Amino acid sequence: MKFFLDTADLAEIEEAASWGAIAGVTTNPTLYARTGGKLSDFHNHIKRICEIVDGPVSAESVAMQRDEIVRDGLELADIADNVVVKVPTMVEGLAATHELARRGVPVNMTLCFSVPQALLAARAGARYVSPFIGRFDDISEDGLDQVSNIVGALSQYDFSDATVHGERIEVIAASVRSAHHVTQCALMGADIATVPFGVLKKMVQHPLTDRGLESFMKDWEKVQGA
Ligand code: E4P
Repeated sequence: MKFFLDTADLAEIEEAASWGAIAGVTTNPTLYARTGGKLSDFHNHIKRICEIVDGPVSAESVAMQRDEIVRDGLELADIADNVVVKVPTMVEGLAATHELARRGVPVNMTLCFSVPQALLAARAGARYVSPFIGRFDDISEDGLDQVSNIVGALSQYDFSDATVHGERIEVIAASVRSAHHVTQCALMGADIATVPFGVLKKMVQHPLTDRGLESFMKDWEKVQGA
């Protein structure tokens, strides 16, 4: 399983990249707004992320019509070789994904909440599909079940004829809110989990590691005092 960092915060990306733990980054309009960034700086900001991370960086189109999404997508793809255009799973998004894929631009279809949506994303030629977990949990439904169903359904078929470069579509488990979500996604075989920095930090932690470290440090003090 690979991990992407789900943030637009440059400091978080630099820190996580230094751990050698992340293979890519996903951003969305909310995450960019959280940095306090302006529209005029958006492309520069994505460029900076692409320089820090040696892997796919998802940048989202906020257009609603297929032609505008394609135009946005081509501009975003021009920023750097590792840009992936994020496109919402909707009719106009599917049409735009199909066109972008035809032109060799990798697309991450986002806001995916069902197996039929994921199957259509794969058919349209998406390179990645991002089912959301936490937002299901927010409405008291099981987001992990949906990811599991999507992983299972996509694995039944070969969609390589739909993508320009013939790669298999990869599932990015998104809207991840806990280390438990990551564990379950790994067990069900999701290709990637995109995690906020807070979740990445929790993934490193275990109380027994802390307790073990504490006792090692205490015992080492005894050795030094002897
Ligand atoms: C990533 O691709 C998504 O935009 C992100 O994971 C959404 O997370 P949220 O539901 O916590 O906002």
